[in-house]
Amino acid sequence: MDYKSIIVSISSRIATITLNRPDKLNSIDGDMIDDFESIVELLNKDSCRAVIITGAGERAFCAGADINYLSSLKNEKDAGLFVDRVHSIFNSIEELDKPVIAAINGYCLGGGCELALACDIRIASPNSVFGQPEVRLGIIPGGGGTYRLTNLVGIGNAKELIMSGDTINASEAYRIGLLNKIVDGNVLSSAKALAMRINQNSHNAVKNAKSAINANAKINDKAEKDAFLSSFSHPDRREGVSAFLERSKPDFE
Ligand code: COA
Repeated sequence: MDYKSIIVSISSRIATITLNRPDKLNSIDGDMIDDFESIVELLNKDSCRAVIITGAGERAFCAGADINYLSSLKNEKDAGLFVDRVHSIFNSIEELDKPVIAAINGYCLGGGCELALACDIRIASPNSVFGQPEVRLGIIPGGGGTYRLTNLVGIGNAKELIMSGDTINASEAYRIGLLNKIVDGNVLSSAKALAMRINQNSHNAVKNAKSAINANAKINDKAEKDAFLSSFSHPDRREGVSAFLERSKPDFE
């Protein structure tokens, strides 16, 4: 099947999902959300044994939600639907009955970082850059970042990243536990090699291990959605998003 913003290829029982908007640093727009919904359905049914998610081009895994798309959300109803859809997609990725590896090759920001957090394992090239810059736009992470980042790197590190909007490099991301591994050379090849090693094990055992580990993770979609909508309705969101689009500095309240 053809998708608009994502390429799917399956070989050796490994599905490779490539976010394919390199000119826009693979940011997530409406088409990509539509694509993801169909792809998650496909992956749930397909007999592949592992999934790799990566970004097209040299610069980015994913630079987050497409800010033009965000600015087209007219009201809280639209914004609520957007958050629900993203939560549902990322939760489905986390709950797939097969390992999901993020092969990160550059910017991994906002919703892109949240997508990586929904994967089971994150490996990255040394030039990758991580962050949750949403507060700079007057909003907050709305794709599970408030709880998945916290689960992974602890409350202190998560608060620092989310409240500052600062970006960190791959070494720092590895140090705080956001990354499993930094790989020299081709990150996609390394992800495939890891997927092949996992696939040599009992699929049933891997699936059960994943499900048991996930059962201990704290998820709070509702608190995050409420906080996202509260930021969305505030004038700072309009100011932050317009400033990004006009390439100027926001003047928040
Ligand atoms: N949404 C929409 N477009 C985006 C985008 C996003 N999240 N991130 C990058 N782009 C677009 C840029 O607008 C630009 O498009 P153009 O060439 O048509 O003008 C293109 O991708 C390249 O990005 P650019 O900003 O020119 O590259 P840069 O090297 O100067 O900066 C970043 C790279 C990642 C630092 C910068 O693009 C950025 O801050 N992006 C937003 C990240 C973010 O806030 N994500 C969270 C969103 S909720």
